[in-house]
Amino acid sequence: MKDILDRLEKRRAAARAGGGVARIEAQHKRGKLTARERVDLLLDKGSFEEFDMFVEHSSTDFGMEKTKIPGDGVVTGWGTVNGRTVYLFAKDFTVFGGSLSEAHARKITKIQDMAMRARAPIVGLYDSGGARIQEGVASLAGYADVFKRNVIASGVIPQISVIMGPCAGGDVYSPAMTDFVFMVKDTSYMFVTGPDVVKTVTNEVVTAEELGGAGVHTTKSSVADGAFENDVETLLQMRRLIDFLPANNEAGVPEWPTQDDPAREDKSLDTLVPDNPNKPYDIKELVHKVVDEGDFFEIGAAFARNIVTGFGRIAGRSVGFVANQPMVLAGVLDSDASRKAARFVRFCDAFNIPIVTFVDVPGFLPGTAQEYGGLIKHGAKLLFAYSQCTVPLVTVITRKAYGGAYDVMASKHIGGDLNYAWPTAQIAVMGAKGAVEIIFRADMNDPAKIAARTKEYEERFLSPFAAAEKGYIDDVIMPHSTRRRIARALAMLRDKHVEMPKRKHDNLPL
Ligand code: HXC
Repeated sequence: MKDILDRLEKRRAAARAGGGVARIEAQHKRGKLTARERVDLLLDKGSFEEFDMFVEHSSTDFGMEKTKIPGDGVVTGWGTVNGRTVYLFAKDFTVFGGSLSEAHARKITKIQDMAMRARAPIVGLYDSGGARIQEGVASLAGYADVFKRNVIASGVIPQISVIMGPCAGGDVYSPAMTDFVFMVKDTSYMFVTGPDVVKTVTNEVVTAEELGGAGVHTTKSSVADGAFENDVETLLQMRRLIDFLPANNEAGVPEWPTQDDPAREDKSLDTLVPDNPNKPYDIKELVHKVVDEGDFFEIGAAFARNIVTGFGRIAGRSVGFVANQPMVLAGVLDSDASRKAARFVRFCDAFNIPIVTFVDVPGFLPGTAQEYGGLIKHGAKLLFAYSQCTVPLVTVITRKAYGGAYDVMASKHIGGDLNYAWPTAQIAVMGAKGAVEIIFRADMNDPAKIAARTKEYEERFLSPFAAAEKGYIDDVIMPHSTRRRIARALAMLRDKHVEMPKRKHDNLPL
């Protein structure tokens, strides 16, 4: 009997050794952890249960039958994050460069199927050379099997991709279809085709970092939702993110104990909005002061910074926050900001996470660059996303809510459940200067008349009361009471139920 037990231990040890000491050392020298070290950091201590550690590929081409390594380049299983079940797979770069074979793909799809059956989140840690070249079309088929499952799981269980090394070819499209993509700075990159192919096809000379590093994908392409300094920080942040997410689309948001009184008032908010309407202020200060214990997990922090999106909690329960940021481009809505917020709003709605929207928006960004870039279609994405929501929507207008952007930013008209305004709110078709120049064009040569008209316009429209008189704003609230009002609103809306008409699916303006 002892022999048999020893044999099991030996086989386990062989699988845990991955690609061997030299390759593990090389991985460490690059500042990267191994797949198993990463799994240990992501999950609660001792909670990981591994599956399929003895799986080997069955390829016989190019002498592959002589090089079989148990596990075949991916570590799969399940464990817990702060006690909640999570499924995961971690590509092992020390084994065939983490490349995807038929057997490797089957390990991943097995985990995807298990996560779906258990209705629990799935996390993929990427560090891979793409399709296992020696396996040809079997590898392509394996990728497609993974992709299909990503799509079926979308909107049912949260899917998170963490890019922790190379991620090229077939490996980029699965992450792209998951809910969140995070990267590690300096050691990870993502591209459909690498620098060598780029040079051959387009003559463009570019480094891997320039082509698909974390800087590119978090600021330019928006493929990634964020990046962290190293493997350890990234994995700890993923634990933080998971704490905000529901297990599935029917479970409801997680609830954590909190010491932060939902009725807590913050007097400093009464002076957050400057007297000068053209002076910026940091909307994140409001978000941080409203959420429990100031704990806010930002999504897409470095991209389209004119809008802020992310998760916080009120009374221990997760809330999605969307907020125009007056510090960047005066908080204007442009194509990138609209796309970023639309995607976030749709995630929250799919997973029943209530949305709180802070509005300070001077309108949509004018100009040829935006119009040629499809501002109409991208702006429509956000309008569509909010209009489609069935989750509780609580909106607070802190200052400007001008033009179409007023409608778009979770206004009453498109489904806002509770729409509040601070006394500093200005809800109008446009700002005073632009309005007066249009409707009093005939008086343009008379500065005194124009000044009088501007004052008249400001008094009538640049306040929350014109909208409040019509019931478009439910109440004008004191800034210091914002957290308390939102907490009460969310408690009141907890069992909100809205039926949408039956359809196959909608036709979001893509
Ligand atoms: C098989 C691979 C591999 C692959 C790497 N290896 N990629 N084995 N298939 N795709 C192996 C190497 O042979 C090597 O084995 C080990 O992994 C480490 O690789 P190195 O090249 O030594 O490491 P490094 O210098 O760090 O370079 C990493 C890399 C490079 C940039 C990822 O390996 C690379 O360019 N690989 C190929 C990338 C690629 O073109 N993949 C196919 C994409 S096409 P030893 O034994 O020496 O340690 C694709 C299509 C799918 O994915 C489309 C589906 C829609």
